[in-house]
Amino acid sequence: MSIPTPHNTAKLGEIAKTVLMPGDPLRSKFIAENFLTEPRLINNVRGVQGYTGFWKNVPVTVMASGMGMPSIGIYSWELYSEYGVENILRIGSAGSIQDDLHVRDIVLAMGACTDSNFAHQFALPGTFAPIADYTLLSAAMDCAKKSGLSPRVGNVMSADNFYDDGSDGPDAWRKMGVLAIEMECAGLYMNAARLGKRALGILTVSDHLYLHENLSAEERQTSFTEMMELALDTAVAMD
Ligand code: HPA
Repeated sequence: MSIPTPHNTAKLGEIAKTVLMPGDPLRSKFIAENFLTEPRLINNVRGVQGYTGFWKNVPVTVMASGMGMPSIGIYSWELYSEYGVENILRIGSAGSIQDDLHVRDIVLAMGACTDSNFAHQFALPGTFAPIADYTLLSAAMDCAKKSGLSPRVGNVMSADNFYDDGSDGPDAWRKMGVLAIEMECAGLYMNAARLGKRALGILTVSDHLYLHENLSAEERQTSFTEMMELALDTAVAMD
C-alpha cells in the first residue's frame, strides 16, 4: 500500500500525529468547525470527512471511523501504517450495563472484550487481550482531573452487532464487571498493538441497557463537549 490509500486521499504530512475518531462523519465536521482553528478538509472518500486543524496551537486531525470494527479497522490501519499516525483516540458513545454507570458519564476504555473474530487474522495460538495504551490512558486521566472530570476506567465490550435477536443480551458481560457496550475499541486496540502504535477509547454513556435512562439533546451536547475537550487536551499532552 502507498499514499493515497484506497480510503484516504490526504497527502503525506496533512495528517497530524494524533487523530481523533468519532464514528459519525457529521460529528467530525462539527468538531472541526467548532473546536479546531484553521480546519482544513484533508479527506472525504466515502464522505468520512477528515480535517486537520489546531487545538491550543497543536496540530490535530479529526476523521470519522464509521461504525463497527471492520470500518475502524480499515481507517486506523491506513492511518498508522501509511500516514505515520502515532495516537488514535476513539471518541464515541456506549451503552452502560452497570447500575452505577449512568448516561453522561465518561468511560476510559482500559480494556476491550469482544465477540468479534477480528483477532483471527493475527493467527494467535490463544486469546488476545486488547488494551488501551497506558501512556495515552494516564495522559487522559491527568487531563480529566485538571478539568474536574471523573471518568470511569475499565473494560468495555466491542460488539459485532447492535441489535440482538432475543438473546440474553449483555448479562454475562455485566456479571464480569464490563462497564459498557460499544462497537469499535477492540479492533482499534488490536491494530495499534500489531503496528506498535497507541490507541485509547474515550466514551460517553449515551444510553443504559438495564435502567433505560435517556439523554436530552442539551445533555447530549454537554457531555459530548466534555469528552471532546478531554480528547483534544490529551492530544496536546501527547505532543
Ligand atoms: N450497543 C452498541 N453500541 C452502542 C450502544 C449499544 O447499546 N450504545 C451506544 N453505542
